[in-house]
Amino acid sequence: MNVQISLARREDFADMIRLADLTLPDRMNLHELKKYLELFPDLIYKATDDGRLIGFSCAGIDMYGETGWLLFSNVAPAYQGKGIGKRLIEARLQALRRFPTLKRVLVTVSETNTASIRALASQGFRFSRQELDYYGPGRHRNIMELSLAPVAIVPRPADQPALI
Ligand SMILES: CC(C)(COP(=O)(O)OP(=O)(O)OC[C@H]1O[C@@H](n2cnc3c(N)ncnc32)[C@H](O)[C@@H]1OP(=O)(O)O)[C@@H](O)C(=O)NCCC(=O)NCCS
Repeated sequence: MNVQISLARREDFADMIRLADLTLPDRMNLHELKKYLELFPDLIYKATDDGRLIGFSCAGIDMYGETGWLLFSNVAPAYQGKGIGKRLIEARLQALRRFPTLKRVLVTVSETNTASIRALASQGFRFSRQELDYYGPGRHRNIMELSLAPVAIVPRPADQPALI
């Protein structure tokens, strides 16, 4: 196995849609994918094995440059459970962190998607909130968050000896 993670390109569209139809039928369509690539060309990553597409993932960022979103991710069934999903998360986080104003990264998760939740948790994401009726009456969405807010450092009073 020679898995590489790199930026996806327009030439990958057809393979990406074929894979998305296999891993999450009816979730991703060509129009949505094209929009992601137009809006966020440096945030769409693919995983290849000897050049063959075996996964891809999308991210975006809001117009204020403060909130990044992980938008979609998938790995071909034969390659799942080998750490590729986590590598795709890392690649997107690395790209999002280049925005100096970034404060947080959010992702919508299905509570039954254990693989997704575990992969996200391993990168520091925690359950943030549930948005009631987001998809229509009784259809809620769950959001996980990675907060990048700097931890406040409280200075030690000058007269207090340092602990050794
Ligand atoms: C979600 C998905 C992208 C994860 O990719 P992956 O390459 O299989 O994930 P990884 O191998 O990096 O594993 C991530 C974690 O999930 C766990 N995991 C993987 N497959 C699992 C499964 N079938 N059931 C339970 N846990 C699983 C791994 O053990 C790992 O957890 P750990 O760090 O605690 O050991 C992949 O499963 C997938 O394509 N699923 C279908 C599409 C989908 O649901 N996409 C997400 C919503 S857009």
